[in-house]
Amino acid sequence: MAMMQGYKQTALLRAALELGVFDRLAAAPGAGAEAVAGAMGADPRGARILLNALAAMGLIESTDGNGDGGYRLQPGTNAHLVRGRDGFIGDLLAVLASDQERDALDRLADAVRRGGTVMDVNAETPEYAYWVDFAAGAAPVAAPAAATVARLLEGWARERPTLNVLDVAAGHGLYGFTLAAAHERCRVWSLDWPNVVPVAREHAQRLGVAERVELIAGDMFDAPLGGPYDLVLVTNVLHHFSACRCVELLRRLAGVARPDARLVVVGFALDAPPEADPAPHLFAPLMLAWTREGDVHTRSDYERMLDASGWRLTSATRTPPLPFTVLNADRVPQREGGPEMATDTMDTLRSILFALGIPEEDLRDGATLRGDLELDSTETVEVTLELKRRLDVAIKLESDADLTLAEVCAEVERRLAGSAA
Ligand SMILES: C[S@@+](CC[C@H](N)C(=O)[O-])C[C@H]1O[C@@H](n2cnc3c(N)ncnc32)[C@H](O)[C@@H]1O
Repeated sequence: MAMMQGYKQTALLRAALELGVFDRLAAAPGAGAEAVAGAMGADPRGARILLNALAAMGLIESTDGNGDGGYRLQPGTNAHLVRGRDGFIGDLLAVLASDQERDALDRLADAVRRGGTVMDVNAETPEYAYWVDFAAGAAPVAAPAAATVARLLEGWARERPTLNVLDVAAGHGLYGFTLAAAHERCRVWSLDWPNVVPVAREHAQRLGVAERVELIAGDMFDAPLGGPYDLVLVTNVLHHFSACRCVELLRRLAGVARPDARLVVVGFALDAPPEADPAPHLFAPLMLAWTREGDVHTRSDYERMLDASGWRLTSATRTPPLPFTVLNADRVPQREGGPEMATDTMDTLRSILFALGIPEEDLRDGATLRGDLELDSTETVEVTLELKRRLDVAIKLESDADLTLAEVCAEVERRLAGSAA
């Protein structure tokens, strides 16, 4: 039954924070319902009912034991729910109990039926307002995780002659900024959507590293990334995407990394049954309800994705009590031509088709574009244009022959070899 009505406690907490109840009691310990109501411009009966409920939840206590007298904050409430205290975590409510997460989860059954989000506006929507709240409010959980990553990188970072860091999907930016605070040589390029990067700037200023931080506003899948970088950070974002889309991103990042660069991926990783490790399994439904193809990846998924994108996994560390895994990968030197080229071309073609909405599992080498994947003429032209944009190869796909993915790749490679000769 507790599971059925957990939302009621969230509603009480939300109302208390919105009205500033804890701030009033911090300013006037022992105040009664009437005084608290007056201070927050509310109705005394409403304030009494809310205060008694908060006492019943253990967030405050009533000084006379029956709610007729005054109220005082419990120590944990005083430390974490009073605005202005160092330990204040109230802004996390806009993240953990946001309208956007709740709306998506309200449609979970529909998402299960479809196998992906049914929300028109969702976690993948460019400049989604939720990510501004996340960047502003997630610091209490992000700061310890960022400190852990900085500690794990300490020895490596100290030895680097340069420490230029690209932090994509940076959000608040704390992972990069914490490193910058620890290493004076460190410069950070933090990328996120244009509406999010101003929040990162505020955090950089607060941490005193703003003069060594550049902000890149745009889509990490096509914004110019600069570089080359010594370290690339990809934290808590790969679960938004399918493995295929992650490979596309990781490959882009490999392209702007120094040959001896390191990649750090932070996120949930499935490597134990739900009963043994509940956190990632409880998080995965949110990705189902809120993204098209997102999922919590397994450790071996990560290994495959890294292999396919020019990185080699070197370690995967769980960092209790944080529920995340920190994956370290080294850049693998790329060879010109040879079998790697074939993999590159197929991955590029697959990611183009995937972006057109073709499910990843349909993208087999032997699938034909029109017969099997049912591309119409507009989509076929889009594939042609994307191949030209990404690989600089002009190839006609609108002819009578219905080519398989493998045949398209072979044709692309023939032309690439011809233009290189
Ligand atoms: C869960 S937050 C992670 C923030 C931070 N890296 C962390 O670990 O706490 C995901 C972030 O990815 C950003 N994001 C998602 N897709 C993006 C894209 N295509 N381009 C740029 N930023 C993106 C969101 O705006 C959001 O700030």
